Amino acid sequence: MLGFLKKNNMKPKFPEDSKTIQTDIVLPADTNSLDTLFGGELMARMDKVASIAAIKHSENIVVTASVNNISFGEPVYKGSILTIEAKVSRAFNTSMEVFIDVYKQDKTHKEKKKVNEAIFTFVALNKYGKPVNVPDVVPQTDLEKKRYDAALRRRQLSLVLAGKMKPKEATELKSIFE
Ligand SMILES: CC(C)(COP(=O)(O)OP(=O)(O)OC[C@H]1O[C@@H](n2cnc3c(N)ncnc32)[C@H](O)[C@@H]1OP(=O)(O)O)[C@@H](O)C(=O)NCCC(=O)NCCS
Repeated sequence: MLGFLKKNNMKPKFPEDSKTIQTDIVLPADTNSLDTLFGGELMARMDKVASIAAIKHSENIVVTASVNNISFGEPVYKGSILTIEAKVSRAFNTSMEVFIDVYKQDKTHKEKKKVNEAIFTFVALNKYGKPVNVPDVVPQTDLEKKRYDAALRRRQLSLVLAGKMKPKEATELKSIFE
């Protein structure tokens, strides 16, 4: 599949090609008055890790265009080890959806538990700040295929909410808007 040339001779890539993992500890300065990780700190860490995944995929400068979803499943206590994994789940023309999975290990560091998911959209830019095309994504695993399929629906919802697409043009969302 990777031998197939598309979009200005750009080879499609696998989600695994953009996989980016950050492991870090939750320090007192990262927490709120309940001694749990401050949501804004987690969002900043996710943005950084996801942007690196988008840079790997596009081999270009990227900017965050939208944050499509963040869910905070469980509190993460001071002293926990936090692992943030990001992969490009689908690419369109100049934009890429990046899926982020967050895991924690508490102070005993025995169990690694998923606590959070998020979905960000990045746009690749050239050195003049203009959007540029990115390679397609070829999903491999069942989870990657599921995320790839749903990404079109999420893109349309994000564009409708941003006022950049008319609801009637959102082909994947007809059941919501009609
Ligand atoms: C993101 C940005 C580059 C888009 O520029 P633009 O002039 O609107 O460009 P376009 O309308 O051509 O859109 C470019 C791509 O972004 C996508 N996009 C724009 N807004 C989007 C949104 N809210 N959700 C999802 N995708 C979006 C478009 O669908 C398009 O994707 P495609 O090429 O794959 O079809 C521009 O709005 C920008 O620079 N924003 C600031 C980015 C930034 O500073 N981020 C950090 C903030 S803390």
